[in-house]
Amino acid sequence: MDCPCGKELCNNKTVQENVPLSPLTTFGVGGPARFFVRATTESELFDAIHFAGERQLPLLPLGGGSNLVISDDGFPGVVVAIAMQGITAVEGTGGAMRVTAGAGEDWDAFVQQTTEQGWAGIECLAGIPGTVGATPVQNVGAYGQEVSETIESVRAYDRREQRISDLPAAECAFGYRRSRFNTDEPGRWIILAVTFLLRPGAPPTLKYADLARHFPPGSHQTLTDIYHAVRAVRAAKGMVIDPADPDSRSAGSFFKNPTLNGAQFAELSDIAPEIPHYPQADSTVKVPAAWLIEQAGFRKGQEFGHVALSSKHILALTNRGSASSGEIVAAAREIQRGVQSRWHVSLTPEPLFIGFPENSCLPEGAIRG
Ligand code: EPU
Repeated sequence: MDCPCGKELCNNKTVQENVPLSPLTTFGVGGPARFFVRATTESELFDAIHFAGERQLPLLPLGGGSNLVISDDGFPGVVVAIAMQGITAVEGTGGAMRVTAGAGEDWDAFVQQTTEQGWAGIECLAGIPGTVGATPVQNVGAYGQEVSETIESVRAYDRREQRISDLPAAECAFGYRRSRFNTDEPGRWIILAVTFLLRPGAPPTLKYADLARHFPPGSHQTLTDIYHAVRAVRAAKGMVIDPADPDSRSAGSFFKNPTLNGAQFAELSDIAPEIPHYPQADSTVKVPAAWLIEQAGFRKGQEFGHVALSSKHILALTNRGSASSGEIVAAAREIQRGVQSRWHVSLTPEPLFIGFPENSCLPEGAIRG
């Protein structure tokens, strides 16, 4: 490849062209990347940023591809797979363990290692697909834990200011499935590493009924017991990636659970008095998107062309083999319309939509990556 920037990156052919992206996503949907680079070091990442900058091409950092809907037309710029690895642990104050992991580390393997060490704090986040660097972006949460509770700081490259920042958790604007990384201008931040403060010897978190049901009442659980129980609960819902389980060919929960203000919740509970609901600290009320979808008349396993609602958990859209990105968008819009018309509640998609032209029709509230 003839590269005007003259950087080694371009000379040693680490840049590939027209690389299919669908195998790099858990949904298995999406066209090719015009250019593709795998960055195993920060220096390789900066070379890739430079490569894109020289050509005025958009850049897409790719982690585990578990929360993306990529357009069938692919991505017209440079996709950089974030593969920086390495885990270090040092004792912090008050007996805490300060654990830093490279953004490219596999999240589930990281959770398993920390539980085996006896360090509490992320054991309920077992079985979540993707990489460590992706977890702060949407403040990944499950079974009573969110990463924001244990993240001390995030090391990120700020493409606007062109410098690396170590952002303390308080500057990450964490909320339910949100952070500054998915609310500041798109593409501004690339996460390089995440530092967690874990609690050696502390008991596991066991708040959710779904999980508690796995153990005899009053029994004692280790962190690794919780790790394996969470994986089992998630697998039963099709939420652990398993090539043998077509329900796991998805982007996990497709919609966020709506948080309603007092007036909106009063209106909903008038027509749906039996809806499960979870009051939040900020006086909003969270309601399950899955319930709204199912009680609006959609069925588990229902097909929309080559897309289907998971047969195990109605909140996941799944690819039944040869789904197109257009079919995913159409199915999501139909579900949004059904829920809006039955319950007067808007559902917002959780995954990022990549490579769709500005004027293309996406589900309401979709975030373009
Ligand atoms: N429900 C249904 N039908 C279903 C499934 C669930 O009606 O097919 C209703 C039930 O009333 C159930 C309620 O929805 O009690 C909540 O379901 P669940 O406990 O499975 O949790 P969720 O709210 O659907 C959230 C996260 C998951 C996380 C689980 C467990 C969101 C959008 N999703 O799901 O995260 O694993 O809680 O804590 O917040 C993800 O984000 O990709 C994800 C999988």
